[in-house]
Amino acid sequence: MILIKTKKEIDYIRESCKIVAEVLQLVKNNVRPGVTTKELDQIAEDYILSNNAKAAFKGYSQGGSSVDYPASICTSVDDAVVHGIPGERVLKEGEIISLDVGVNKNGYFGDAALSVGIGEISEEKKKLLEVTEKSLYLGIAQARVNNRVHDISEAVQQYVEANGFSIVRDLCGHGVGKFLHEDPAVPNFGRKGTGPKLRKGMTIAIEPMVNMGAYKVKTAPDGWTILTADGLPSAHFEHTIVISDNKPEILTVQ
Ligand code: MF3
Ligand code: CO
Repeated sequence: MILIKTKKEIDYIRESCKIVAEVLQLVKNNVRPGVTTKELDQIAEDYILSNNAKAAFKGYSQGGSSVDYPASICTSVDDAVVHGIPGERVLKEGEIISLDVGVNKNGYFGDAALSVGIGEISEEKKKLLEVTEKSLYLGIAQARVNNRVHDISEAVQQYVEANGFSIVRDLCGHGVGKFLHEDPAVPNFGRKGTGPKLRKGMTIAIEPMVNMGAYKVKTAPDGWTILTADGLPSAHFEHTIVISDNKPEILTVQ
């Protein structure tokens, strides 16, 4: 069931989303060679708690995974697509990292992610980041009243594949707001004109995961980290948005 949010609920979701955007900016500013992903997690957690909010991912359990998610954010480096668990890993020049943040304040959720290079990165990786981010905005542009969910999906997929990269199929965007994950699923591949109709008051997270090589992924032995099957790098960008009368409003902004 797709939840339609009232104006009041959207205001609460907006408040959580603003914190998400602030955390992402703060953590991004601390990404540099030599820092550990655990240090980034601590910076995020401190900021979230100081805003009287909770890290939405911490303690989250998903079907199929036996361990609850143990950290406040996801830090996914190079061939890690998403759900990388922060730890002792030291970031190195030339790598790329996806930072994914979820916040729960007053019982309302926001969710967003961005990917960034560590120091100087290759031209290929720069293109991967640019194409992934642009695909997110092309998807968002389709998030209009009376469009359908797969209008978003097709826009993302078309652009990514036209640029020679591939779209991960095993993971999707999602409704978000009263829960971290709600209906509808928002795949990053599909055929326009299909899927549920978008209506005013729906809040969704759109999150293309784009691989430099093939789209196949696998789960790491930690039970969480999603890795590319071919070991090539992957990028990820995400925003929470609300479907409104006019153009889509991006909520995960500062
Ligand atoms: N943005 C990711 C998602 O929507 C983050 C989930 S991490 C988890 O799937 F720990 F909460 F699962
Ligand atoms: Co998400």
